[in-house]
Amino acid sequence: MTAPKIANKKRLNEKIVCITAYDCPMGRIADAAGVDLILVGDSVGNVVLGYENTLPVTMEEMLHHTRAVRRGVKNALLVADMPFMSYQASEDEAIRNAGLFIKAGAEAVKVEGGISVAPLIKRLTDIGIPVMGHVGMTPQSINKFGGYRVQGRGTQSDIIAADAKAVQEARAFCVVLELIPAVVSERITRELKIPTIGIGAGPDCDGEIQVINDLLGLSGETLKHTKCYVDAGDLFAKALETYSREVRERQFPTEENTF
Ligand code: KIV
Repeated sequence: MTAPKIANKKRLNEKIVCITAYDCPMGRIADAAGVDLILVGDSVGNVVLGYENTLPVTMEEMLHHTRAVRRGVKNALLVADMPFMSYQASEDEAIRNAGLFIKAGAEAVKVEGGISVAPLIKRLTDIGIPVMGHVGMTPQSINKFGGYRVQGRGTQSDIIAADAKAVQEARAFCVVLELIPAVVSERITRELKIPTIGIGAGPDCDGEIQVINDLLGLSGETLKHTKCYVDAGDLFAKALETYSREVRERQFPTEENTF
């Protein structure tokens, strides 16, 4: 998969399947399942590293997880999320950091924001680094929003639409629409030429992205915009209870497991 092929899926009217992954086994499983795009999200902060939100995530942590996922992914497009303050302070620093992701094996980067990051998206694209945009509820601005809240209601919808258009004009290959009303994402999807990738944005986007731990029952909560396809958390817990009991009762290891 390539960034131009993802962009072309909109013209072909093919839905784009995207998922996050944070380590090699999850990358391998998602890739083998045939997803189109794998994002090493900065959600690694709250999903895997135990932080409160994505703000503490560093370049070093993102590079470490990007390299791990790279080793498991053969076919899907691998996108790395630029963490908070890795691209906001200066364009030169942002370009150097984006370059580090490409050297770590990512094939594109994602940045949050619309009009404010459009000049950066254009520069990155010009030097050959494909960019995935991200507008609406952008978690790195959680302090500005006052929490994880639906954005783009009422007259605010024009602001989100203008942000999405700026991202397209800067030549991003696609744009994530997060936590916005379905009627707004339907309008933006209709107005844009690049694909929209929804999360909590209704059924009319050109593609969907979800946090892998939410789909697999590993995040301990089911949010309105997610769906738990398998309760792996419960399966893992039961397996480990059985393992504990068998070790304590001397049922494992057996001769079969012994050299
Ligand atoms: O970090 C992340 O997981 C994301 C997706 C939810 C779009 O940005």
